[in-house]
Amino acid sequence: MENAVKSNLYSAVQPTNNLTIGNYIGAIKNWVDLQDKYNCFYAVANMHAITVRQNPAELRQRTLSLVSLLLACGIDADKCTLYVQSHVPAHAQLCWVLNTFTYVGEMERMTQFKDKSRKHADNINMGLMDYPVLMAADILLFQPEVVPIGKDQTQHLEIARDIAMRFNNAYSPTFTVPNGVYMKTGAKICDLSDPSKKMSKSAENVNGSIFLSDGKDEILRKFRRAVTDSDAEVRYDPENKPGVSNLLTIYSVFAGKTVEEAEKQFAGVGYGEFKLAVGEAVADKLIPLQAEQAKISADKTYLEGVLKSGAERAERTANKTLSKVYRKIGF
Ligand code: TYM
Repeated sequence: MENAVKSNLYSAVQPTNNLTIGNYIGAIKNWVDLQDKYNCFYAVANMHAITVRQNPAELRQRTLSLVSLLLACGIDADKCTLYVQSHVPAHAQLCWVLNTFTYVGEMERMTQFKDKSRKHADNINMGLMDYPVLMAADILLFQPEVVPIGKDQTQHLEIARDIAMRFNNAYSPTFTVPNGVYMKTGAKICDLSDPSKKMSKSAENVNGSIFLSDGKDEILRKFRRAVTDSDAEVRYDPENKPGVSNLLTIYSVFAGKTVEEAEKQFAGVGYGEFKLAVGEAVADKLIPLQAEQAKISADKTYLEGVLKSGAERAERTANKTLSKVYRKIGF
């Protein structure tokens, strides 16, 4: 329920491809942990998803399945406002206004825009370039003090802060300038086959990513193949032992231990046994989660109810900000 005393928190996740344990550790787990402390708004960002081509039926199905997943992970739809981005028109409306406070040069310099332009060279559309402005609109509509994200979203959050300050300076204080919050461990979970890269939903080599939908055998097989190093010591040292450190981080989150506790537990243990233990800890969490997600997905009436009330609540807050903005700019 909205609470006047708690400050606002905003975050979102795209319904593209299958989510990975990177999304879970870097974002969703944090969302669940923060829902009592803040007045939380969580969105499934389907408007961001269409910046690369999507199959419409699949996008619709993935959007709903992501809502079920978030509920299965422990997001409480009574405590938080959980909604689908396209259900709230204010996102697109504020994005248009903020576009006029954003410079083409700064969008061209965005790392994700450059990466995605390389990856989708046949479809460098305006939406791809405008993505950070839509993300700024998402955030600023809800006046959040905090935005929990993984490290890969830092540049986008910075631009949202810049746009907010620019608008506030041009008119009068209108937007709360948000702060990014990151997990102490796990703000960047790396690819199991190449620990120099982040684990990604869209990685070409699927063996490097553990998807939240993977079965137990697949999870164990991928961890068995995970890249380590040649010195056979389970020790946390991200610079010199990136593969092993990534596995220790993953284990610590899924086993509910600190990295130090995990290090002690695996002192003197061989890599084979260590990787099996990491795989088991992840599977022990993901398999029941998948069962819960399937149960929620099957209850269409419940899901529709969650989304309808989520959209109404989100719209109330978003429209307050939008009318303030419209007034200030002379609409
Ligand atoms: P998305 O959908 O790519 O990812 C959702 C969240 O997961 C985090 N994440 C990771 N964290 C740690 N290790 C990884 N390997 C890893 N991979 C992904 C991301 O940092 C993110 O927090 N643009 C956003 C969605 C978005 C948004 C917003 C977020 C749209 N509007 C407003 C915050 C506020 C995105 O594509 O996230």
